[in-house]
Amino acid sequence: MQLQEILFTQGFGTRRVCAGLVQQGHVTVEGQPVDDAFAEFDAVDGLRFTVQGTPWIYQAKAYLMLHKPAGTECSQKPSTYPSIYTLLPSALRLRPNKGAVQGVQAIGRLDQDTTGLLLLTDDGQFIHRMGSPRHHVPKVYEVTAKHPVDDAQVQKLLAGVVLDDDPKPVRAAACEATGTHQLQLTLTEGKYHQVKRMVAAVGNRVEALHRSQIGALTLSDDLAPGQWRWLAPAEVEALRSGK
Ligand code: URA
Repeated sequence: MQLQEILFTQGFGTRRVCAGLVQQGHVTVEGQPVDDAFAEFDAVDGLRFTVQGTPWIYQAKAYLMLHKPAGTECSQKPSTYPSIYTLLPSALRLRPNKGAVQGVQAIGRLDQDTTGLLLLTDDGQFIHRMGSPRHHVPKVYEVTAKHPVDDAQVQKLLAGVVLDDDPKPVRAAACEATGTHQLQLTLTEGKYHQVKRMVAAVGNRVEALHRSQIGALTLSDDLAPGQWRWLAPAEVEALRSGK
C-alpha cells in the first residue's frame, strides 16, 4: 500500500494532507525517514511509523481500551461534560470508514460519573457482536454503596430484582460483598443505569461505580484515568469468541 494511503487509513487526514506530511519529511517508517508519498509498504498490523514525531502502529481495524475518568460523557455530542472522545488522539477520531470520517466508537456506554473499562473500535461487526443480547459478555462492576451492604441485599441481587421498565426480573450473574460498603457485581446485560437501579431495588444506593472487567479482559493497572492502549490481537479474539 502507498505510504500516503497508509496514513490516510489511519486517520492522519485526507490523501492530499498525508502526501504533504510525507513529502515535507514528517514521516518515518520502521525508523527510516521516507519522503516519497507513493513508496509501497506491506500494510500489516504492527507496522511502525511516526508522523511529526508521534509513534504509531498500523492497524487495519482499531481496538482499544480506555480508562474512563469520572465527569466524562460517552457521546460524540455531550450535553454537560467533556466527551470521552476528546481523550483520544485525533487520528483515532478521524479514521475513515467506508468513505466517511467516523473514527472509533465506544462499545456501549457508561454514565458520566462511572469510571473504568471502556472498549472502543471502528469495527462495526465487532460492536454489533459485543452488543448482541445473545453474546452475553459478563461485565464486572465495583460498587461503592451509600449504606452498608449485607447478605440479604447480595441474595436478592443474585435471585433477581424487578426494574420499573420490565416485569421480568434481572439478576446478577455473580455478586459478593467486598467491603462494608462495597459490592462486586457481574452483569451479562446492559440495561439503562442497570447497576444503579438494581442496587436501588434492594434498598441501597450507588455512590461510586467502576467497571473493572469485560469478559476475560481486565482494566490494566498501569492505565491512569484518561489513558488508553491498543488491545492485543489475542485480547480481541478472546472477546470475539466470548471467552
Ligand atoms: N450501570 C449503571 O447504572 N451505570 C453504568 O454506567 C453502567 C452500568
